[in-house]
Amino acid sequence: MALTTTWLAACAGNGDGLDANGRPIGPGDPGGTPLTADFRSIQDHVFTPICTVCHAGASAPHGLRLDAANSYDLLVGVPSQEQPGLMRVKPGDPGSSYLVQKLEGRASVGARMPLGGPYLDQATINVIRQWIIDGAQRSPAAAARSAFAIHAVMPAPGDVLDEAPSQVVVSFTRELDRTRLDPSIIHLERISPDAGTSASMSFDLAVPEANPATLILTPRSTLQTGRYRLRVAEIGLADISGAPLAGTSSAVDAPITLTTFEVRSVP
Ligand code: HEC
Repeated sequence: MALTTTWLAACAGNGDGLDANGRPIGPGDPGGTPLTADFRSIQDHVFTPICTVCHAGASAPHGLRLDAANSYDLLVGVPSQEQPGLMRVKPGDPGSSYLVQKLEGRASVGARMPLGGPYLDQATINVIRQWIIDGAQRSPAAAARSAFAIHAVMPAPGDVLDEAPSQVVVSFTRELDRTRLDPSIIHLERISPDAGTSASMSFDLAVPEANPATLILTPRSTLQTGRYRLRVAEIGLADISGAPLAGTSSAVDAPITLTTFEVRSVP
């Protein structure tokens, strides 16, 4: 990848990884802009050029996709799979954020990230720490999106997974109204291959306090091989201002399909 090569070249010429102003050179260094402690900058300098080599698509380790469309919703307020007692990113608390522990090589499970190195220099990690200290906000541009709509679903429609996902994550462009959230409006179904009939899977439902625009479904038992569909009765979804999903009519209780994915058996 061209960006990674640039980074390696930059590092070779400057062991500290700092630019002339003493600011960390972002590893990706898009357009020569310095890395700053905001989510967009971290995405462009670190997650996209370095992490998505592995953390993307259906085979992303632990379902952690770090591409621009998914990373925020799968990091902030979401429990780590390796260490479920810790959030991947806990706003205000970098030391207890599993992401930081993985980057600094302090995690109790698995390897230091990026797996196999080269590792991020401490100056770069400190910028990520600062973003977390500042509350781990989404970039202002994203927060300004107006309509209440679905932002991303993981697993994404059409995904074929080699491993059962331990979570299904739906993120929205605005905060959800938790008081109106009724688990019975959400259906995770296993579609039988022949008759087109489906069986409902039971799950626990959570809206992380740190990221209230995200809905996390945790199946109570491992999803077996097969095809799955996630549907929601749109009438039950509203943002904190009471607005229904954009483009839907709150008068019609027709279920909408959020994603359909497959878990396949690995020979
Ligand atoms: C070469 C492939 C590869 C690259 C590049 C990589 N990772 Fe990983 N990552 C993995 C694998 C495999 C695991 C699971 C095994 C382990 O933790 O050692 C993992 C696990 C993780 C976890 C733990 C997830 C959880 O829910 O517990 C985090 C956090 C993480 N990676 C962050 C990153 C970040 C941030 C980057 C970029 C700076 C990155 N990784 C780059 C392969 C990679």
